[in-house]
Amino acid sequence: MKHVTLPDGEKVPALGLGTWRMGEDTASAEQEADVLRAGLDRGLRLIDTAEMYAEGGAELIVSQAIKGRRDEAFIVSKVYPHNASYDGVQAACERSLERLGTDRIDIYLLHWRGQVPLEETVAGFERLKDDGKIRHWGVSNLDTDDMRELAACANGGNCATNQLLYNLGERGIEWDLKPMMDRAGQPVMAYCPLGEGRLLWDGTLAVLAERHGVTPASIALAWLLSRDQTIAIPKTSRPERIDPIVAALDVKLDAEDLALLNDEFPAPDGPTALAIV
Ligand SMILES: NC(=O)c1ccc[n+]([C@@H]2O[C@H](COP(=O)([O-])OP(=O)(O)OC[C@H]3O[C@@H](n4cnc5c(N)ncnc54)[C@H](OP(=O)(O)O)[C@@H]3O)[C@@H](O)[C@H]2O)c1
Repeated sequence: MKHVTLPDGEKVPALGLGTWRMGEDTASAEQEADVLRAGLDRGLRLIDTAEMYAEGGAELIVSQAIKGRRDEAFIVSKVYPHNASYDGVQAACERSLERLGTDRIDIYLLHWRGQVPLEETVAGFERLKDDGKIRHWGVSNLDTDDMRELAACANGGNCATNQLLYNLGERGIEWDLKPMMDRAGQPVMAYCPLGEGRLLWDGTLAVLAERHGVTPASIALAWLLSRDQTIAIPKTSRPERIDPIVAALDVKLDAEDLALLNDEFPAPDGPTALAIV
């Protein structure tokens, strides 16, 4: 497994699994938990979830998957902005811990920015950290101005990561946000790393997949893994799609491959509004 480094020096896996749209249908619950367990078996220890996903249903799937093997997993969950007041994050975190069947979340994120001042949310997160209920905290969908404001808050420098839309087709953060986070030592957690599946129809990805004897999904992930300080969290509910995800770790994209991808999916040539889903 490749790792990235959090600002406090802790190493975190660079490849994990997402859970958005899991837990919505009880008929699929067992298969979804199986997929996460298969991921754990193959070294995909980082699991990303949120109180929002299926209104807690995805956290319940995670709890099934990690039963009896909590220490193998690195759990990321997220609080809704409307729960992000000082007291709100304490209560939301308790509910998430209960659903997850664990006593701690490894990284707890503010899902996106809402009405609560960042300073208050940070104070709530720091309290959860002091109480041992979360090990790190971070944010999601925050742009450069928000990150600057966050850094100026008391303890704002403790932000571990910013989870952002980042894939071959969405490279806007490379202009200023990613460099800013690099300077702060904060890895990017790249969500929708497969472009929600749409990227996988691209012809250039197909050519490179054939060249490397893998599938387009492995190429899309290998490209993210080739970037510094980047964590990718693809989601699948199908057991047979764990292999292509893990295979990305063995794909070494050479200069020619990267040039081909850069032609098809150019880096930004100026600032753009933060893309979100
Ligand atoms: N912070 C945020 O605001 C935010 C926003 C969006 C997502 N996220 C997180 O990021 C995770 C990943 O994003 P995402 O789930 O939106 O999109 P994604 O990982 O880019 O793509 C997932 C889609 O691709 C399909 N897929 C997976 N492997 C495939 C393969 N080998 N071949 C073809 N299709 C494949 C999946 O279908 P199957 O399930 O049928 O395989 C699913 O429909 C989420 O699950 C969530 O944890 C965070």
